[in-house]
Amino acid sequence: MKTVLITGCSSGFGLEIARYFLERDWRVIATMRSPREDVLPRSERLSILALDVKDPHSIRAVIDAAGPIDVLVNNAGIGFLNALEGTPMDTVRDIFETNTLGTIAMAQAVLPRFRERREGVIINVTSTVTCRPLHLLSVYTASKSAVNAFSESLALELAQFNVRVRVVLPGRAPSTRFGENAQARMKNGFPEPYGALVQQIFANWEKETAVTHASDVAEAVWLAATDPSSPFNIPAGEDAVEWYNAAAK
Ligand SMILES: NC(=O)c1ccc[n+]([C@@H]2O[C@H](COP(=O)([O-])OP(=O)(O)OC[C@H]3O[C@@H](n4cnc5c(N)ncnc54)[C@H](OP(=O)(O)O)[C@@H]3O)[C@@H](O)[C@H]2O)c1
Repeated sequence: MKTVLITGCSSGFGLEIARYFLERDWRVIATMRSPREDVLPRSERLSILALDVKDPHSIRAVIDAAGPIDVLVNNAGIGFLNALEGTPMDTVRDIFETNTLGTIAMAQAVLPRFRERREGVIINVTSTVTCRPLHLLSVYTASKSAVNAFSESLALELAQFNVRVRVVLPGRAPSTRFGENAQARMKNGFPEPYGALVQQIFANWEKETAVTHASDVAEAVWLAATDPSSPFNIPAGEDAVEWYNAAAK
């Protein structure tokens, strides 16, 4: 039986990915900052473990407790939208520590076992915002673009050990808790000189109809985990596929 370890399973994509793999008879290690037993169906194949990807002790403890794993899904992440002038450096650090360094630290933690077993898949969830520049997203996009670049290079050095790396790029998913969670970091509002731009950006978003569903992301992660011939970059969601293909032209 194959085992997947997923970060950030308390809500959104992580929760859906955990459900998807459980339904397909995998052993699932669903990790959460604050473990909750009531969000996933009970199963002998499910372990819920505490993990904060910013905390090296927490990472060590989860790797020790997890036992052998076949697939790591780096899904945990935080969002933020503001002009750079409205972005405190503590917030910049928080975003990079979670989205970028958390992903790198988790990959580093699973690698010795993957290399020794000559088998394993690392799947990093980034975003299609990395496919084109967007207003007010400089820091978030940088944190995810860094993961794209990291993953490409890592894939090269791990190929010799039969360890695969894949990037799943979701589009905009208003149905997860991502926006709500990001709001908590945005309580100081937007700097006044950017007010008109912010209004214009929000109005444009309301016109967009194609979105990404958590199930799209779970399907893309499943493809990455189970199909060695899957593409390195896998856009997930109707809008994501449009954006990704437009950028590739
Ligand atoms: N929703 C979108 O529009 C969208 C689009 C493209 C990409 N993404 C990316 O997709 C991933 C999942 O997002 P989502 O939409 O499912 O958002 P979500 O519902 O907010 O879920 C994010 C998950 O990450 C966890 N998390 C945050 N900081 C963490 C930390 N330090 N250690 C461990 N877990 C942590 C959260 O846990 P807590 O409950 O403890 O906060 C939560 O479980 C993220 O990487 C995000 O950047 C989202």
